[in-house]
Amino acid sequence: MGLVAVKNKIMRFLQKRPTLALCVLRNWRAAFYNEAKVVLSAGIARSNSDSKEHMLRLRVHSLEKGLIMRPLRPVFAKSYIVETVELFAERFKQHQGLDCYDELLNWANSVLAEYFRVTGSDSEIDKARQAYEKLNETEHGLDGHHIPFVRPVEPLAIKYDDLLELAERRRSVRHVLEKQVEWEVLEKAMMVARQSPSACNRQGYKFHVIQDRSLIERVADLYGDYGSLQKGFPSLIVITGRMEAYGLGERHATYIDASLAAMSFQYALEVQGVGSCCIMWMENRERDEAIRPLLGLSDTEHPVIFMGVGYPVDTHPVPKSTKKSVDQLLRRVGESPAEADV
Ligand SMILES: Cc1cc2nc3c(=O)[nH]c(=O)nc-3n(C[C@H](O)[C@H](O)[C@H](O)COP(=O)(O)O)c2cc1C
Repeated sequence: MGLVAVKNKIMRFLQKRPTLALCVLRNWRAAFYNEAKVVLSAGIARSNSDSKEHMLRLRVHSLEKGLIMRPLRPVFAKSYIVETVELFAERFKQHQGLDCYDELLNWANSVLAEYFRVTGSDSEIDKARQAYEKLNETEHGLDGHHIPFVRPVEPLAIKYDDLLELAERRRSVRHVLEKQVEWEVLEKAMMVARQSPSACNRQGYKFHVIQDRSLIERVADLYGDYGSLQKGFPSLIVITGRMEAYGLGERHATYIDASLAAMSFQYALEVQGVGSCCIMWMENRERDEAIRPLLGLSDTEHPVIFMGVGYPVDTHPVPKSTKKSVDQLLRRVGESPAEADV
């Protein structure tokens, strides 16, 4: 039996016993080590304010989904409405007296007011309603306009062909000018990116922008020989997933939320004439431990993807990066001839 066959046999054996694989394969343990650590940190951080913010988002989102049900159920959200009002009250008290507009509070307040307006009576709901009404202050500065709405249906000025042109124009740019990308450009890109879908609207990601050359170099050095690409960009963004927003079974949402936002961000850069390139975070235990203090990352967030950003050198070629055909990527389940034969 050849070496490959032996290897495959061992892999097939372990494939049926992944727990054993985690115990005996050192590389496997190492590969999952960072994620496990972040998930555990998130478990410990359940009572911190970041974690509670995400829980409030989750609950308000669930209420909104209840509000758009047709027919509307006379009573819903019994199991979590008391907790939602408590989370709201806590955040409200934290912001009282602060001269800052808080979009989450505004949204939560609008949705709670609408919920209590339409929902019927039940012991838990009445308890929550009383607690909510006791917070008389809820009228201060909160406009109550953030409730489910019917979207405009007029056709958009942007047509399909415009979007296709943008998608085809964007290519990963790896050669950029030294000119720094203005903060306003990044802010405008974030305005778009934050509209991306995220699991229960928790937006469990953060974009850490590094524009300091020496810091970019230190981060790039963590990559060893592969760090030269990072060094060429005047802005390097480390996009992290925030595990405190999610439970164990949802942990992959940190990667998904971050990636969806990253894509929108890239398109928003492209239309502003700014190039970008995603760069793999070559994760291992040493790099993870080194990057945290460098960027001031919390224990509950983890790097998902890096993105170099800069004004493209117009004359420099970019890889063509030909894409798979639509047929390869889009599959009609159960109706392809191959499946009919099975
Ligand atoms: C998760 C991810 C990791 C990537 N890592 C790298 C990288 O380390 N170095 C690099 O040059 N490009 C990297 N890229 C860019 C891809 O090579 C590029 O997106 C792909 O070849 C398609 O080309 P396009 O973006 O121009 O369409 C990465 C892209 C993604 C989505």
